[in-house]
Amino acid sequence: MKDTRILFVCLGNICRSPLAEGIMRHLARRAGLDAAISVDSAGTGAWHVGAPPDRRSIAVASAHGVDIRGLRGRQLSVADFDSFDLILGMDGHNARAVGGLAPIAAAHKVHLFMHYALGRHADVPDPYYGADDAFEALYQMLEAGCSSLLAKLERAS
Ligand code: 4NP
Repeated sequence: MKDTRILFVCLGNICRSPLAEGIMRHLARRAGLDAAISVDSAGTGAWHVGAPPDRRSIAVASAHGVDIRGLRGRQLSVADFDSFDLILGMDGHNARAVGGLAPIAAAHKVHLFMHYALGRHADVPDPYYGADDAFEALYQMLEAGCSSLLAKLERAS
């Protein structure tokens, strides 16, 4: 399949987007597509630059056999619009913020994750101030989206 570089973007890059990154990498590896699909994540905000993922994202990932402990927060940069083919915002606010920073030539790369992956105009809700059990629901939502995204990329190749 065609090489595809995917960047997941949320607000802090400690809860949703590193979990999406870990899940997508895991699914691509399991499908034997890890050479074709590269994944990264970033936040629109800078509060958690250099920090590991939130302990609740690490825990739910680990419960599903996905190790995201080594990831570190970083902020979206203008170079990302060159470096990636797809830039997927976790919610409408993220997608609009990213779209607002995109050079015109890269605007087509920016999408709302669940819409691009599943055709559903749905946000992946910000779980930061939520209860711990919100993270299992988050995992399920991200896995459904990432599975569908993988199938879509395979169909397109
Ligand atoms: P994320 O969640 O965007 O999924 O990483 C958040 C993490 C941190 C904050 C907000 C959302 N914060 O305000 O620090």
